[in-house]
Amino acid sequence: MSLLTWSSVFSVGVKDIDDQHKKLVDLANQLNDAMRAGQGKDVLGKVLNELVDYTVYHFGFEEKLMDKHQYPNQAAHKEEHKKLVGEVAAFKGKFDKGDAALTSEIMNFLRDWLTKHILQTDKLFGKDLNAKGVH
Ligand SMILES: [Fe+2]
Ligand SMILES: [Fe+2]
Repeated sequence: MSLLTWSSVFSVGVKDIDDQHKKLVDLANQLNDAMRAGQGKDVLGKVLNELVDYTVYHFGFEEKLMDKHQYPNQAAHKEEHKKLVGEVAAFKGKFDKGDAALTSEIMNFLRDWLTKHILQTDKLFGKDLNAKGVH
């Protein structure tokens, strides 16, 4: 069973951002599947790295668009990104050292964060971009 299923409810009205969110959902599902299948630290670490790298890329992409279009709520939006990256980096540091394991609690935290951030914070940004002619 998937951790998270993409549907049009998640659309923020900007194609590049929607495509990146689909990829993030896909990577989160891959990580969840690997965890549930009891894969070892090597496999989990590889998927975790991909998810972290793509998340950083995606946040950077959104933040460049915020700068380019002078998005009024950019400070709060960037702060949410920064907080998650900090939390994920702290977890990854522990995971790599063998001091933390990937659990369903962590996957659920990630699912809830993604859902809330896309539905609230990214949608608000998408509306502003749409109003400026970006789709
Ligand atoms: Fe965002
Ligand atoms: Fe996003």
